[in-house]
Amino acid sequence: LHVNASQGSTKNLPQNLFGVSFEEINNAGAGGLWAELVSNRGFESGGLHSPALIEPWSVIGGYSLVRVTTDFSSCFKRNAVALQMEVLCDSNACPAGGVGVYNPGYWGMNIEQGKTYKLVMYIRSLKPIDLTVSLTNSTGGKTLATTNIIAADVSNWTKVEISLKANATNHNSRLELKTNRKGIIWFDQVSLMPTDTYKGHGFRKDLFKMVADLKPGFIRFPGGSFAEGKSLMNAYWWKDTVGRWEERPGHMNDVWAYWTDDGLGFFEFLQLAEDLNASPIWVFNSGFSQEQAVDPSNIKPLVQDALDGIEFARGDPNSTWGSLRANMGHVEPFNLKHVAIGNQDCWRGGYRANYLKFYAAIKEAYPDIKVISNCDGSNAQLDHPAELYDYHLYVNAKTMFSMAHKFDHTSRTGPKAFVSEYAVTWDDARLGNLLAAIAEAGFLIGVEKNCDVVDMASNAPLFLNANTPSNKGFRPDAIVFDSYQAYGTPSYWMQQFFSMSNGATLLDSTLQTDSSNSLMASAIWFQNPVDKKNYLRVKVVNYGSNKVNLKISFEGLDLGLIDYSKSTQTVLSSTNVKDENSFQNPTKVSPVKSLLKKGKNDLNVTLPSNSLSSL
Ligand code: AHR
Repeated sequence: LHVNASQGSTKNLPQNLFGVSFEEINNAGAGGLWAELVSNRGFESGGLHSPALIEPWSVIGGYSLVRVTTDFSSCFKRNAVALQMEVLCDSNACPAGGVGVYNPGYWGMNIEQGKTYKLVMYIRSLKPIDLTVSLTNSTGGKTLATTNIIAADVSNWTKVEISLKANATNHNSRLELKTNRKGIIWFDQVSLMPTDTYKGHGFRKDLFKMVADLKPGFIRFPGGSFAEGKSLMNAYWWKDTVGRWEERPGHMNDVWAYWTDDGLGFFEFLQLAEDLNASPIWVFNSGFSQEQAVDPSNIKPLVQDALDGIEFARGDPNSTWGSLRANMGHVEPFNLKHVAIGNQDCWRGGYRANYLKFYAAIKEAYPDIKVISNCDGSNAQLDHPAELYDYHLYVNAKTMFSMAHKFDHTSRTGPKAFVSEYAVTWDDARLGNLLAAIAEAGFLIGVEKNCDVVDMASNAPLFLNANTPSNKGFRPDAIVFDSYQAYGTPSYWMQQFFSMSNGATLLDSTLQTDSSNSLMASAIWFQNPVDKKNYLRVKVVNYGSNKVNLKISFEGLDLGLIDYSKSTQTVLSSTNVKDENSFQNPTKVSPVKSLLKKGKNDLNVTLPSNSLSSL
């Protein structure tokens, strides 16, 4: 490999080249990054016509003693459904400890000893109440925290806020609301949050850290197909996800088949981007769900909705929507610079007509916003204006590796590519293995080398709650988690190899070898923001099944300046290309670091078979 660092042989990599694509899929947000522990907290998931459907809430004491249904008596206009719990037994006639309802969260709540959990709920009853609120194990047999609420008059809806400190740890806990007094109690908007979320912003700390460790330059949200919905009614409508959490209606994520309370709403997505120091990329609905379409003649209200969303994100705090953002606690505008008009909608008749209306209105109001089209501009120029075009790539490993050259021959003029979703899928990847990761690394090296025509790229999906049924959701994913633990798939670790590329200098590098069909390499130069030192990083993928001895020579660079005591070779490999990580063995396929041996005028390194190396 010959690396030329001479002036004139370098390119600047875009500041936001590598980022993440967050979709509400696989319970990534609800039951994932968003730390809310109660699932279906407003009893809304059954919709208006299924009052008995309160899943995953269930009764304690049996249906002969507790009758539950929902009615429309809530004090919140936008989410009118409340739970009506009628207790039929009284004092000693009730089983010891009382009867009531429980919520198991998203496949069990993670309650940890010594930690505090904030419960907020709204209650109403025509009689005085004596209610026990407890965190227990999954069967209710062991109590981790408990408190009593005794109130003489809750005849009007009353907000209750209490702290519960856990005296033991259980990763599969539940929240119980019990009484032994006959009568009816109404419940609504029952929320339980751990108090130690990231900066108190509601993000589960361990999952936030895993994303932050990728140093994403951008975060695309809220999807993916989630932004489209299967039906337009269940698409992502940002206005339903902002304001006080109690007042958000929530909606059915009908593409991925689960309910979301939208605690992780538009404001929280923008906050997440800011907390990650990543540029927010908002994908809004272009007038198409997977099964329905808005005719261009009727698109005006949706265009206004998009403009309002941009105003919410970055408008003056005195503007209509900017003031709502300010009231929610963020007076300063968020740094929204990119919007995508739809997701995978280019093939829909009417997309261009809708797109042009969105585009014209956005450009008139916000000329600096970069607009992303759903149409592929990699083979031919787009027939409509755009700053970027969205490109999705889900293929097998061999094709992914060959796609390293996809953009070599793309026109150097016109909109740039935003590869917002790429992943090796199907049999080659299963839940995410080494083969997938190194094929993707080859593709990303191709992205680096074509950084003049590819502006941004992100792997997808980002998260998988391991409890997602195998016939639902989308696999593989970068980060797998359950109620209390998480691990990165090999693709996740692979992405860390590219975490210093954003804003770095790309050096010219040429492979001069017979094995070049199975090798991909790039070289970058960057300053580490922590120690302020300059680093040279050479990344090489060996996609072949034989090890390779690689000699790396340099031009325009004084090798004498290299501090070998700090120079390392980090390798992602394993004994079998199909090796995966798991909760039992979370780092089976993960980077291994060793010191580099000093050469005279060049470097000699061994690249294991099927590996990604960073020098
Ligand atoms: O990333 C998973 C899904 O794949 C996205 O929702 C969609 O955009 C694509 O088809």
